[in-house]
Amino acid sequence: LLSLPKERGWAAHHLYLFQDFWCPSNFIEGVNNFQKHFQSKDSDVIVSSFPKSGTTWLKALTFSIVNRKRFSSFDNHPLLTSNSHDLVPYLDFIFHCDNIQNKLSYLSNMTEPRIFGTHIPFPSLSKSIQESNCKIVYICRNPFDTFVSFWIFANKIYPDSLDKLTMEEALEKYCKGIIGFGPTWEHMLGYWKESIATPNKVLFLKYEELKEDINFYVKRVAEFLDCPFTEEEESNGVIESISNLCSFEKMKNLEVNKSGTFDRSFEKKYLFRKGEIGDWVNYFSPAMIEKLSKTMEEKLSGSGLSFKTYS
Ligand code: A3P
Repeated sequence: LLSLPKERGWAAHHLYLFQDFWCPSNFIEGVNNFQKHFQSKDSDVIVSSFPKSGTTWLKALTFSIVNRKRFSSFDNHPLLTSNSHDLVPYLDFIFHCDNIQNKLSYLSNMTEPRIFGTHIPFPSLSKSIQESNCKIVYICRNPFDTFVSFWIFANKIYPDSLDKLTMEEALEKYCKGIIGFGPTWEHMLGYWKESIATPNKVLFLKYEELKEDINFYVKRVAEFLDCPFTEEEESNGVIESISNLCSFEKMKNLEVNKSGTFDRSFEKKYLFRKGEIGDWVNYFSPAMIEKLSKTMEEKLSGSGLSFKTYS
């Protein structure tokens, strides 16, 4: 670690520049072990995202789409009593442990298809994920909203240890790419390029598009994962039931998501804030708008990846 470039993160942990991304210090061991040991199966599904882009939502959607035959009752569904992060564990955390052999045997015995989450950028995923026929569903979000969501989340969960930056200073760091798993641009572009090069391997989704037509995207994800809805399922309203089960209002108000902690580190209720498009207008000054717009133009121009502004 000592040889890696280091920055004070704006949450609780230092960030180390590890394989071209800013890895929070508490993740490095897990990411290293994951790269060394994880054996992907062709049937695996990986839900990938930059933090605060809609991971909790996409994990719930993917879990309920893939497992809809196992759990066909929406009145008695695991998502009503478990948080989606408990049902879809982070690969980045799984290997943060001493007993790797135990983890490996647990992983190889998991019911298939296994579904995992990750915030790791595409180039740093294990070779095994890149080489197997597993599928990756990536969610990305307008950086204006992602930044606000991250900032408020970090302030809530690390009120004492947060580096005392103003929102403007935090935005400076964000634009330079200094944020856990950043730079954001490299993160989204890595998956974006891969989704164009190998569209059967990586599906690239945008939070805003899911918000605008969730039923369409539930169908799209199912097709991508080779488990399309049958006509009978469609006429029985299964798509709508999944959309409703995973909706912000539904998930936020579940007892299991209102109380208790996530991985013993923060209260689960902080995973659900507003769930809206465009809340950034309530936080950005004109100078901040200019700063982030310019950065996005610089970083994303020519890539084909763009975001509508929602002001
Ligand atoms: P806001 O802070 O803008 O409200 P992640 O899950 O990657 O940590 O992202 C968190 C963001 O997604 C938060 O955004 C949170 O409120 C929102 N979110 C959580 N569950 C959601 C859901 N079921 N539908 C839509 N948005 C959701």
